[in-house]
Amino acid sequence: MSVVGIIPAGGSGERLGADRPKAFVVCAGRPLVEWSVDVLASVCDRVVVAGPAGHLGEGWVEGGPSRSASVRNALAAAPEATKVVVHDAARPLVTEALVRECLAALLGVDGVVAAAPVSDTIKEAYPDGTVVRTLDRSRLWAVQTPQVFRADALRRALDVDDAVLAAATDDASLVEAAGGSVRVVEAPAENIKVTTAADLARVEAALC
Ligand code: CTP
Ligand code: MG
Repeated sequence: MSVVGIIPAGGSGERLGADRPKAFVVCAGRPLVEWSVDVLASVCDRVVVAGPAGHLGEGWVEGGPSRSASVRNALAAAPEATKVVVHDAARPLVTEALVRECLAALLGVDGVVAAAPVSDTIKEAYPDGTVVRTLDRSRLWAVQTPQVFRADALRRALDVDDAVLAAATDDASLVEAAGGSVRVVEAPAENIKVTTAADLARVEAALC
């Protein structure tokens, strides 16, 4: 049995607008991606990072044109994996405890995702703003990473056209589309994602 950590870090970080890809932006004294590498390395047998072309560290693989394509490239480099922990470089506040909790919940299901209960009321609307319906908030979760999978289920789910991968906003949705079962576990509120410069400042404050 082999647990492999996969870190999609191949994005450009357009919304952050830094002078380099987001994974390499210095956050609390080190490149953003390193925080996640350390946490996954403490739990997994091996970690594979999918980085932006031209910026590959040692042992990294080249990312793809979309986030899930990057995950697929990294998984292809880990044929020994029986379980996979996927975690975005953009969430440096992940904890070892959260990763272990997700792995422990991977019993009788194909995937487990860290998620936060939604606190706002969520409405579906047409493009012109007209509300279609209000969803039942008590059953809604905002999904994050880590996301852990049985490796065979994730391999099957990622074996789809690039256009399907590009449309996916997480890996669990691809596993669901392939007929797999996925469960949520509640993540701590601190597991925020660095998208904008304001997020980076918040994360930096938490890490210092
Ligand atoms: N990612 C990736 N390969 C891509 C696109 C994204 O590995 N082709 C990774 C990012 O590096 C990040 C994670 O997926 O760790 C989540 O993506 P996001 O936060 O959107 O990062 P970016 O795509 O880099 O940012 P932006 O969308 O603002 O350009
Ligand atoms: Mg992106």
